[in-house]
Amino acid sequence: MRPRVFVSAPLPGTAVDQVGGVADVVVGSPGVGVEGEELASVAADVEGLLALLTDKIDAALLARLPRLRIVANMAVGFDNVDLDACRARGVVVTNTPGVLTEATADFAFGLLLAAARRVVEGDRMVRDGRFEGWRPTTLLGAKVHGAILGLVGLGRIGQAMARRARGFGMRVVYTQPRRAHADVERALGARWLPLDDLFAAAEIVSLHCPLTPATRGMVDAARLARMRPGAVLVNTARGPIVDEAALVAALTKGPLAAAALDVFAGEGARSVTIAPELLALPNVVFAPHAASAETDTREEMAETAARNLVVFFSGGAPPNALA
Ligand code: DGY
Repeated sequence: MRPRVFVSAPLPGTAVDQVGGVADVVVGSPGVGVEGEELASVAADVEGLLALLTDKIDAALLARLPRLRIVANMAVGFDNVDLDACRARGVVVTNTPGVLTEATADFAFGLLLAAARRVVEGDRMVRDGRFEGWRPTTLLGAKVHGAILGLVGLGRIGQAMARRARGFGMRVVYTQPRRAHADVERALGARWLPLDDLFAAAEIVSLHCPLTPATRGMVDAARLARMRPGAVLVNTARGPIVDEAALVAALTKGPLAAAALDVFAGEGARSVTIAPELLALPNVVFAPHAASAETDTREEMAETAARNLVVFFSGGAPPNALA
């Protein structure tokens, strides 16, 4: 008998068809995913899940899916999955590393430029008819070329940011619990600093670390207060890494000049909550968790998740199984 697989939502590319080659597939509704009727109706015999980062895969869900054997998460981040609960039930978990590295770094660098050089504020000024001609002091922004870029995390995406930064003549410092190999540091021209020193030294800080108990709330009032006057913060990692109330204060009273946020503490499966005080700030560039939203990249993410399911149900070891 073919296994039953639940795919959380319609996907780009051929991913659903690929899974359909080895399993009977039920596709959920966008914005509802594992919470919907579609999964409830087949919960008793689902053996595989193709989950989105908005799906909470926890002990309560696993208890509803007694035959589940694998969760293929369509994301490199897997903070939505309770790995311990999966391990305890012998459920394999996979993610999609590598395929979104360059697209995410492109977007993060774009946000960095937009926030530092006030691109969105300028766009609004022109659209609103407030551009009345060149003035020496209009919308002066922060320097990007030659600036000190602080990368929190020098994994795949952090390294891709460092490569882009070199093209802008930036000086790159980075922090992470384990220092990168000397060859990597040399190739990227990146210097390791302790976390607090990085926040004090960098003119622009970009977050590229996973959301874990150690990084939740890591960018708090104390760390923001250490930042240089006129500094810029970019977050394309996960919202809860930043204390948003503290960020509002740092953007209002200093030291920060600007921020760019692609991710938010209040991102839920069905809706997103963002404090009105944050939304009202003109010196923040917002994006809708879109750093990987490039056509090819999203297809590759979906197909990578699909491949893990296909290999697993064909009796092989899924290539992106998490330890
Ligand atoms: C991921 O894969 O974790 C990203 O957040 C998707 O954009």
